[in-house]
Amino acid sequence: MSFRHNHLLGIESLAPDEIRAVLDLAETYVDLNRAEAKHGDALAGLTQINMFFENSTRTQASFEIAGLRLGADVMNMSMQASSIKKGETLIDTALTLNAMHPDLLVVRHPHSGAVNLLAEKVNCAVLNAGDGRHEHPTQALLDALTIRRAKGRLHRLSVAICGDIAHSRVARSNILLLGKMENRVRLIGPPTLMPAGIAEFGVEVFDDMAKGLEGVDVVMMLRLQKERMDGGFIPSEREYFHRFGLDAAKLAHARSDAIVMHPGPMNRGVEIDGTIADDINRSVIQDQVEMGVAVRMAAMDLLARNLRAARKKEREHA
Ligand code: NCD
Repeated sequence: MSFRHNHLLGIESLAPDEIRAVLDLAETYVDLNRAEAKHGDALAGLTQINMFFENSTRTQASFEIAGLRLGADVMNMSMQASSIKKGETLIDTALTLNAMHPDLLVVRHPHSGAVNLLAEKVNCAVLNAGDGRHEHPTQALLDALTIRRAKGRLHRLSVAICGDIAHSRVARSNILLLGKMENRVRLIGPPTLMPAGIAEFGVEVFDDMAKGLEGVDVVMMLRLQKERMDGGFIPSEREYFHRFGLDAAKLAHARSDAIVMHPGPMNRGVEIDGTIADDINRSVIQDQVEMGVAVRMAAMDLLARNLRAARKKEREHA
């Protein structure tokens, strides 16, 4: 078995061959998604519930489309209007849903570790769609697929991750994945937005864009996560753009064939100049969205295979 997990909670627990297994399967789904008839049946008969305790546009839509294309019955729980508001705990909500026999539970939650906790309480496959500042594994996998397709490989690349590293689960999952696949990772941002102890991750840290971007193959920009800030992390957005916003002059320090990425949603004019984001010769931001659906199809397909195998075993031993 090429993918040995019952849940997809983070990149941290994945081995390089498991990462490759997800990406290779996702390639086949890229082709399916570009065809006119987009239906597979890998999830036929299964129920997928999306529980988003934080706002999301692209990630929720992407998981929903991925499930529908593979034949799952997909339900979106609106957690804004849910019993959480009436004081129910996360675990009680999970146990209630669990009693309805879902097969795949896709969860986004503002607290780091909440999705792991939930996975211990239910008997279906859980996918982490982002937990606090901790992990966002499908984002790192879709970024990896985008890089592999644009650069022809996913090793020995020099990748700069820029901006609000401290609040970013996208950065954390990407640092882990790119490291496992033997790439060089540089982090660029103001010291106030660098997490403590980050050097332990085997990355190089810069607070100057010109120096940090020198010769890199990939420039990954991050959104300034204002909703996770509780004070003065940056002097002003204008000043931030001046020093850390990606524009043509700063990008000129990267390799001439370097690609530009952003997980979205973008703050144009804050962390990235709109012209760069829209430059089809450099920006792969729309490719990231396309790869997102394929990667989520692959992840749910692999988890469903393991789920079916485990249930079969259980029945045989019953
Ligand atoms: C990211 C997230 O939610 O962590 N967005 C996403 O999944 N597309 C990044 C962000 O919110 O800035």
